[in-house]
Amino acid sequence: MSTQNSLNELVNLFNLIEDYYIEGFHRHHSDVESVEQEVDPENQLSEINNEISSCRKCGLFKERHNTVPGEGVINPLVMLIGEGPGADEDRTGKPFVGRAGIYLDSWLKAIDLNRSENCFIGNIVKCRPPDNRDPLPEESSACLPYLQRQISLIRPKAIMTLGRIATQILTGEKSGIGALRGRIYSYQGIPLVPTYHPSAVQRNTSLRGAVWQDLQELRSILQDG
Ligand code: URA
Ligand code: SF4
Repeated sequence: MSTQNSLNELVNLFNLIEDYYIEGFHRHHSDVESVEQEVDPENQLSEINNEISSCRKCGLFKERHNTVPGEGVINPLVMLIGEGPGADEDRTGKPFVGRAGIYLDSWLKAIDLNRSENCFIGNIVKCRPPDNRDPLPEESSACLPYLQRQISLIRPKAIMTLGRIATQILTGEKSGIGALRGRIYSYQGIPLVPTYHPSAVQRNTSLRGAVWQDLQELRSILQDG
């Protein structure tokens, strides 16, 4: 009987020690993460850029001239997320600098946003798909961890996905962009507003009214505190 009691006590003691180690480890671990985030997100962002510049996690590395990690401010009002670099972006290493990018700037201006002051602009894949084809699912999933890390460092107030590819990937939905836009989603706890890709709207101007609605939706989220 008394042997059984001592055994029980011993088991309890072991459980206590185990709990202490597990909890202690978690507490310590998350402290380190949050301290790192507070201390220097800029440095961590450039560390991600470095990793991207030498990345070979998918076949898109073969034909790129430059990686396009994305750029903008930390803690922006909006993070805009496109599909992948085109020719101009591949040549310069900067996101949305071609025709679609100039058009995108006019959308931002319409709701008092500005890429150099309160936005961050990025893409699902950081290397140009040949002939501007859609990124393959394995290319998007290989590249997605970079975007996830960028979002958790940048912490935008809202996300706007541009086009079907970015919208499907970040919402996890399968429908086309016409069916997916028009409502608000959430990604990493951040409100996400999908809209058409600027290139699609340049080809088909009848989409402009919908984009206007989506921009108003975005603006009202930003004004909501
Ligand atoms: N289209 C995109 O999706 N991303 C860019 O960076 C440029 C054009
Ligand atoms: Fe790496 Fe992304 Fe470029 Fe593929 S697209 S090589 S995953 S950086």
